[in-house]
Parts: sequence; structure tokens; C-alpha cells
Amino acid sequence: MKILMVCLGNICRSPLAHGIMETKVKELDLHWQIDSAGTGDWHKGESPDRRAIVEARKNGIDISAQRARQITIQDFVDFDLILTMDTSNYNNVIAMAPDEKGIAKVNMIMNYYEEGKNMSVPDPYYDGNFTLVFELLDKVTDSILSKYAKEEMV
Ligand code: 4NP
Repeated sequence: MKILMVCLGNICRSPLAHGIMETKVKELDLHWQIDSAGTGDWHKGESPDRRAIVEARKNGIDISAQRARQITIQDFVDFDLILTMDTSNYNNVIAMAPDEKGIAKVNMIMNYYEEGKNMSVPDPYYDGNFTLVFELLDKVTDSILSKYAKEEMV
């Protein structure tokens, strides 16, 4: 399974989703590929936001080596799932999709926790609520694993 986590800047939410999921798949010895990207390019090449790094570290996860990048058309070929943090990211990613196959790979990540509700992971860039973001992503990554990991773990 290859999963791309997507938010706006690729410095707050998607790096946390990337780091949490990557840590869990390693613990389970799954050979999944996890990456993240932003719909915007303002933070290209930057490390995650310090507050995201601190929140991850509090939970035993190191995301400091990640570097921000912008989503590309090639990502619709390279990944099986493209999971967005909020509705705005979702609409922007869908608008970029090259074909129906690409569109079918895109979903809002929290739909794996509460199907069909299209719940957003709130943007913590201004309000600083990285703890809430971590909690939501910790829960939803467990749901994603229980949906897709079973056949690989037997
Ligand atoms: P992210 O948060 O999309 O979770 O990485 C943001 C990062 C940067 C900005 C907005 C949201 N910004 O306006 O630069």
C-alpha cells in the first residue's frame, strides 16, 4: 500500500499523518510507502512546523527529517490512496486529478474514522491546537491499518 497524506502547506497536519502512519507500519513490519505533500508550494523544502515536531516528539515520533513538497500529477500514478486533511484540500486535489482512476484514489482522511461524514482535521497553523490534530490522526491511522493491513499480517 502506498499512501500520500495531503494538507495545505505540508508543514503541520500531513507531516504528522505521515510520521504517525510510518511509525505504525514499521512497528507492524508492513512494507508500505508513506509520504506527504501540500496543495500549496509556499513551504517547499522546509522542515515541518516546530510545533508539529514538538507534538510528534512528545509521542515518541521524529518527523524532523521531513521536507515539504507540493503534490504533483505523478502522485496520482505513484500512490494507491491520496488522503486529504480538509474539504478545501480535497477539492483542490480532485481538481488536479488527471483521470477517473486518479479521482478514485482521493478521500478525506477522517472518512476512515467516521465514514461519509467528510470531517476535516482542523488547521492548527493559527490556533496552535496540535494536540487535537495528533489525537485525530492517531485514531484514524489505526482505522486505516485495520481496514488494509489484515491480509498482509497473516
Ligand atoms: P498545514 O498548515 O496545511 O497543516 O501544513 C498550514 C501551514 C501553512 C499555512 C497554512 C496552513 N500557511 O498559510 O502558510
